[in-house]
Amino acid sequence: MPTPAEYLVANHTTFLEDLKAFLRIQSVSTLREKNPETRQAAAFVVDHLKAAGMTRVELFETNRHPIVYGEWLGAPGKPTVLVYGHYDVQPADKVKDKWTTDPFEPVVVDGKLYARGSTDDKGQILADIKAAQAWMQTTGSLPVNIKFLVEGEEEIGSENLDAFIETHLDLLRCDVAVVSDTAVVDLNTPSLTYALRGLVYMELEVWGPKVDLHSGQWGGSVHNPLQALCEIITALHNPDGSISVTGFYDKAKPISAEERAAIAEVPLTEESWRASTGAAVAWGEPAYTLRERISARPTLEVHGLIGGFTGEGSKTVLPASAKAKISCRLIPDQDPFEIYDLIKQYVATITPPAVRSEVRLLNTGYPAMVPIDSRAVAAAKNAYTRGWGKQPVFVREGGSIPVVATFNKHLGAPVLLVGYGLPDDGAHGPDEHFYLDCFYKGMATMAALLENLGGMTPDEVRG
Ligand code: BES
Ligand code: MN
Ligand code: MN
Repeated sequence: MPTPAEYLVANHTTFLEDLKAFLRIQSVSTLREKNPETRQAAAFVVDHLKAAGMTRVELFETNRHPIVYGEWLGAPGKPTVLVYGHYDVQPADKVKDKWTTDPFEPVVVDGKLYARGSTDDKGQILADIKAAQAWMQTTGSLPVNIKFLVEGEEEIGSENLDAFIETHLDLLRCDVAVVSDTAVVDLNTPSLTYALRGLVYMELEVWGPKVDLHSGQWGGSVHNPLQALCEIITALHNPDGSISVTGFYDKAKPISAEERAAIAEVPLTEESWRASTGAAVAWGEPAYTLRERISARPTLEVHGLIGGFTGEGSKTVLPASAKAKISCRLIPDQDPFEIYDLIKQYVATITPPAVRSEVRLLNTGYPAMVPIDSRAVAAAKNAYTRGWGKQPVFVREGGSIPVVATFNKHLGAPVLLVGYGLPDDGAHGPDEHFYLDCFYKGMATMAALLENLGGMTPDEVRG
């Protein structure tokens, strides 16, 4: 019999084909017209959990996209590991978003698999499923009890997941949770993430005249809503890049000197920042390093402006209203609902008198931190060393995974953020890709992690 690691290597091609099939399913959770495809991706997960040897696999309906659950509990006395991932993906439009290839027709070029969802998160969750399969197929069992929780609403704020978790605490009882939905520093530097930012996503709308007006007839007398919106948006930041919203930083935990020193050990040079972003000059709070700005500091971003005339040619119209999509990344202990209130209040005070404005809440996620010095973390460190071939470093991550705060609140078990993506994989953007190397190393890392956790008692794993 091969070892689990050998089994994974022998099946690289098969699992790559499985991943391609997964990626062909357009499970874009935010688009209602893709609901059938999103459901199809859930069914794909069901099939592969069954193939991996899970003895109970269930699809739980929600108000929107189903939650997939799969378990194998054949190791009494051993720790129970809850593995989380998501089968939904961000939207992708080949032409509009300027993809080189069809986002839903996966292709391998130069050792990278290109497709929407390849790194976020289908490649990562499939790696975890196949790692479990490797144990089952080679030894007939797993070194631990395992529970998979794979949702289809992560990219839209995990709206229905919190309620599911709160009402299924028994089902989800575990000694440790493992989330594979983050990036490592680079191919030769795997990393354990110890902090994620939270998020509050909003829509800001401004109204002026009762209808669109002729800009020649009325321009110069009406405060243009699109301009007023831009004035409001501009007033949300100070010239130094900090956020001007009253009270915004009140609950933001300062980064300790000790942590700043630790963050500085994984530097992000302006040069490498420039290579990744393609932007000319770094921007942001001068008192913080680039690495700190993208992970340990809160932000406010404008995602889009909607309004007025955007068609071809010229139309001299003075728009009646305008809209912006805005979000904030949050750090502990900022609360997304409190920040929403602060922004609402602040926008009300800076809205020019000639227009009316409204801020609406779209979705939220709490920031989260996870321990770095437990025995479970040591098991994960060793797993990277064995599966990835390199000792991992610790990083804070700028992105958000709302369920992590929910796990922290309800599971009473540590969460390990064991990701396999790379920062330059293009998640959410055009030409998203996943290095085959990351896929294979991820599977090997997870297989090693299961073994390491299996060598511990449940109490040791809980820490
Ligand atoms: N996998 C990402 C989170 C992430 C991004 C982790 C980058 C590490 C590095 C996740 O799928 C994601 O995109 N989350 C959303 C959450 C939001 C919609 C509530 C995000 O961060 O924008
Ligand atoms: Mn993700
Ligand atoms: Mn994502």
